Amino acid sequence: PEAILDFGFDTDSVMVSQYSHLITRRLRELNIFAEMLPCTQKLADLPYKPKGVILSGGPYSVYALDAPHVDPTVFDLEVPVMGVCYGLQEIAWNHGQDVSAGDKKEYGHAVLKITKHPNAASHVDTLFDGLGEEMEVWMSHGDKLGCLPDNFVTIAETSNAPFAGIAHAEKKLFGIQFHPEVTHTPMGKKLLENFAVKLCQCKQEWTMTKFVDTEIERIRKLVGPTGQVIGAVSGGVDSTVAAKLMHEAIGDRFHAILVDNGVMRLNECQIVHKTLTEGLGINLKIVDASEQFLSRLKGVENPEKKRKIIGNTFIEIFEAEAEKLVKETGVEMNFLLQGTLYPDVIESISFKGPSATIKTHHNVGGLLEDMKLKLIEPLRELFKDEVRALGTNLGIPEDLVWRHPFPGPGIAIRILGEVTPEQVAIARQADHIFIEEIKAAGLYRQISQAYAALLPCKAVGVMGDLRVYDQIIALRAVKTTDFMTADWFDFDGKFLRRVSTRIVNEVRGVCRVLYDVTQKPPGTIEFQ
Ligand code: XMP
Repeated sequence: PEAILDFGFDTDSVMVSQYSHLITRRLRELNIFAEMLPCTQKLADLPYKPKGVILSGGPYSVYALDAPHVDPTVFDLEVPVMGVCYGLQEIAWNHGQDVSAGDKKEYGHAVLKITKHPNAASHVDTLFDGLGEEMEVWMSHGDKLGCLPDNFVTIAETSNAPFAGIAHAEKKLFGIQFHPEVTHTPMGKKLLENFAVKLCQCKQEWTMTKFVDTEIERIRKLVGPTGQVIGAVSGGVDSTVAAKLMHEAIGDRFHAILVDNGVMRLNECQIVHKTLTEGLGINLKIVDASEQFLSRLKGVENPEKKRKIIGNTFIEIFEAEAEKLVKETGVEMNFLLQGTLYPDVIESISFKGPSATIKTHHNVGGLLEDMKLKLIEPLRELFKDEVRALGTNLGIPEDLVWRHPFPGPGIAIRILGEVTPEQVAIARQADHIFIEEIKAAGLYRQISQAYAALLPCKAVGVMGDLRVYDQIIALRAVKTTDFMTADWFDFDGKFLRRVSTRIVNEVRGVCRVLYDVTQKPPGTIEFQ
């Protein structure tokens, strides 16, 4: 995609092939820009010559019929190449050498013995420079190297893998069987630094400020002096950061639209309006479509149906508003802004070939075709924490930068029965109290996501002298790094007591509060 290829760090790039986004991550932590591309990438098609190439690990055997293979010209580029795990086998395979299925598969810790070659070419020992004679490494492989390819020497071994590290005697070609990118290899980052800085001569200049400058330049060039960009904002971190970046680049030629779907958090629209318009100067239009959404949600209990209705209604309204905007302002829109992040891009990178843009289009797909909009995705190089750093760099308030994620279908998938205005009001208030208390206790940043759900059934209680029969709130708070697995947050009893008392006292229609102690898996983060 153009966005990646246009990216301005041409001269200092290390290219990383398929599978291990952690390698990219570690290099960025070293202030080196790295880009992950499918392993089948034709190197001649790149608009720049990378300073080095890393072939990552992968779950295949190089001998399998459907195994992925690199473009062999990678070995003619005359830049350093390092293979990690599968990458090592790929290098050996390309150099005509035997890779055998390991008699013992090896997973877990191993002690690596480093071999020095004082009489060899100087690059041979550079990978392990400053790493001593032994280091702890993390292994995870089935196949291993049966013998050395011609012209290679062993630079490291373990008790189970005699060729755990190899280097070409003349060319800067390396293979390592272990994973330097995982934290279980404590000195792995230093090894990556040796490769990128000492062998590839990459400069350690990748910083957020540099990213902002380059990205603003890139946006200006792409959009041109008169181009117009439209985009939806939600009040979340990603869309706000993307919007602010666009505003910095092209000012009021960026048009943000916030669609109020009636199932956002308490006072969300006012807060977003205040922050984005008054605080950040973004050209924002708020469309109150809550009645439309809520009337379509009437009588619907099935979570997937709720999602579909909300998704489709959103597209419909956004399209109509975009057309209105064109009529009102008399200017054509040329681009559609999306806050796609790097993990979404990685997910869709595969040697089997699906396009890297499948996931991102589906939100507002119709718009792209009907209005002939091109997609602009300024965050597609970044991980979530980098987006937060970028947000801070752009002067977005801390509160917003550290906001928990909020699902597109909003409170509708946290109201477990029918979504009515009354149920929305109850769920919102309870959620607001819970989050307010979490913030007051200084716990917000320790929790990845927290919210209150409203159960569709009633329980008996006594309040004052009266017997009541009211609804139940379930609280959910989880800690997670990737949202794929999660653990519930261990609040102390005092905190939960305070929240429960407040909710029962302040939210009419609720007489009980439960706390969800289910991990993911098996429970998902959302209730629906
Ligand atoms: P689950 O419930 O699958 O949630 O464990 C994982 C993360 O995804 C968010 N989520 C959604 N986000 N539309 C969204 O934009 C959705 O339909 C949706 N469902 C779940 C959820 O909030 C959590 O962060």
